[in-house]
Amino acid sequence: MSDDHDHHDGNDDHELRVSKIRDGTVIDHVRGGQALNVLAILGIDGTNGEEVSVGMNVPSNRFARKDIVKVEGRELSQDEVDVLSLIAPDATINIVRDYDVVEKHRVERPDVVEGVLSCPNAGCITTGDEPVTSRFSVLEDGVRCSYCETIVRDEIASLIDT
Ligand code: CTP
Ligand code: ZN
Repeated sequence: MSDDHDHHDGNDDHELRVSKIRDGTVIDHVRGGQALNVLAILGIDGTNGEEVSVGMNVPSNRFARKDIVKVEGRELSQDEVDVLSLIAPDATINIVRDYDVVEKHRVERPDVVEGVLSCPNAGCITTGDEPVTSRFSVLEDGVRCSYCETIVRDEIASLIDT
């Protein structure tokens, strides 16, 4: 019996690719391939010494593959979660304190995001000299500028104002 540890067939035991965190946020069930965009949205590039673990395209019970991002020492704001929902609509946000998950919520897609994304259309009124706050309505599969109607589907993360 002694060497039977860690040889279960259950998914749960196999799922832990990156260590548990003590205090911070686990962004789980991120669409496979979106983890680096999640980091971009959170403004994390590692240069400030942030302690971050990332799993990409790891097996998941809920989807075939998922990404997972663990950020030590940081709890996300609702604004950050709203933007995350655009690229990770099925994500679960887990707030961890002293190793326990103390809060868990699914992200919710807002109907509208204001002042967060910049329109890719150089002729759009929001990208001109006059200060006009950007405004996008959130679609099933992308976002649409409320001013010039430009629709962006695949490169939403690249529109994020930093
Ligand atoms: N987690 C972590 N560090 C902790 C606690 C949890 O990294 N101290 C991670 C787990 O590895 C898991 C996620 O946070 O990826 C959610 O933890 P938990 O709620 O315990 O797992 P599940 O019940 O499997 O979550 P769900 O039902 O949302 O899939
Ligand atoms: Zn526009």
